[in-house]
Amino acid sequence: MKKILIIGSGISGLACAIRCAGLGLHVILVSPYPSERAQSVMAAGGINAALNTKGENDSVELHIEETMKGGCDIASRTAVEGLCRRAPQIIHWLEELGTVFTRDSNQQTDFRAFGGQSRKRTAYAGASTGKQIVTALVHETRRYECMGLIERRMGLHFYSALIKDDTCCGALLYDSKSHRLEAVYADDVVIATGGQNGLFGKTTGSALCDGYAAGKLFMQGAKLKNLEFIQYHPTTVETSQKRMLITEGARGEGGRLYYLDGERRVYFMEEKYGERGNLMPRDIVSKCIYDAPSQVYLDISFLGKETIRRKLSEVDTLCRNYAGIDVTKESIPVYPSVHFFMGGLSVDICHRTNLKQLYAVGECASIYHGANRLGGNSLLSAIYSGMTAAESISGETPDASGCDFSAYISEQENIMKKIFSSVSRFSAVYVKQDIAKIINSDLGITRTGEKLRSGIESMDYYLSVVDKLKFDCDISPYQSYSLEGMITLARAVLTCAEVRKETRGAHIREDYPERSDNFCCSTVISFNSGKYETEFVKEK
Ligand code: FUM
Repeated sequence: MKKILIIGSGISGLACAIRCAGLGLHVILVSPYPSERAQSVMAAGGINAALNTKGENDSVELHIEETMKGGCDIASRTAVEGLCRRAPQIIHWLEELGTVFTRDSNQQTDFRAFGGQSRKRTAYAGASTGKQIVTALVHETRRYECMGLIERRMGLHFYSALIKDDTCCGALLYDSKSHRLEAVYADDVVIATGGQNGLFGKTTGSALCDGYAAGKLFMQGAKLKNLEFIQYHPTTVETSQKRMLITEGARGEGGRLYYLDGERRVYFMEEKYGERGNLMPRDIVSKCIYDAPSQVYLDISFLGKETIRRKLSEVDTLCRNYAGIDVTKESIPVYPSVHFFMGGLSVDICHRTNLKQLYAVGECASIYHGANRLGGNSLLSAIYSGMTAAESISGETPDASGCDFSAYISEQENIMKKIFSSVSRFSAVYVKQDIAKIINSDLGITRTGEKLRSGIESMDYYLSVVDKLKFDCDISPYQSYSLEGMITLARAVLTCAEVRKETRGAHIREDYPERSDNFCCSTVISFNSGKYETEFVKEK
């Protein structure tokens, strides 16, 4: 029986594991923490599918067109078509597994309006859709565990892939309980480690998703794509730990953005874009908030207590608990914050990376979202990508050639011993905070070549000293060994942003403010003997 190693147990990893098991493959599903702590549980607003239950004449074709347009025409059309066509079936599947979506007055699954879409096609569970889906998928995973087809293991962090002749044969994992490295061999490896939030410090997501796996795999020969496209969510609330997301569903239900000109409310999005102004794609709303002359507020108070309780109760609780705001009476001060990464490991429509037997799914993979993702397409692509990878894997004959990694493994074990015995002078966590500061300042909502080059210089400096730094193992060896991969990834992100000399979607260059036909393609970056090499590739 084919053995599949899936690294990451959020929604994309779970969907991949369930589909693999359904196809009779044996799965080892590893993650540092349980699925219930994955970033997926933070997904709030909903999941898209053109089921056309609202009498709005919606269609899969319209979903495809709006996804392509939202992504500024650089996503893979073939991949987007597959995604949108399977979406209705995915909603039915989730319902069969027991996902409790919010109901309309006919007791049917309700669909709400979301940004960049002209029809109500986002199914939701209040503002905790991710949590509901994770619960259903974990339940289904347990069924396959009982059948012996899925083996779930926790406390394991990705360390590196086992790669020979451009073929991935498994992975080295760091066991946070035994503090040892463990080699797990498999016919295929699927990376499902999420986005790069940890690189940016405070975001709407989980700091546990730090991009290390993508950075390390890049160093090991995997290509990355479209790293410059980083989505800022328009409406978040500042707290000491993170930026709390105020779901786009709040505007989907009618919430309005404004700033004050003296006493007068200026509904700037509606003034500029008309009735649907508050629900323009996120890149546009975020930039308008960024450019607003004073603090921007979101008002949902006029929706009334009943609607807020039924559809947005999590927003009410969050604002009450973290900001002391009663949303039924007061407006919410909002700021755009880093939310989603359209870029990641470069994959084809089957979710294969450029390394044989290595796949990537979910937010760590890049193919569907182009320069800007539509809200509600993230949960959809997490599930669809997991299923698609499983189906590709199942259709391929395993490579029977065995490889000997013993020399590589003992070399890595020695590195880990050194990390353990090192005396702390600099904390890896401190270095990461500094990197987050640099990357936020040099790669913000708007960018210039000068700032990007300065960011690249800073990363090159850190990379030149990374081996000399004595790391703080009191915190966690993971924090130490993940540093180089994360800095390398940051360097790659800045490089992609520097070479794209135009403005498109979430990539806004002050020095190149126009969109250019020369860049109507993806940025692919590879790491060759310490050099960062970029090329522009047209997606099919
Ligand atoms: O605003 C939101 O609820 C976010 C949804 C998404 O990113 O898909």
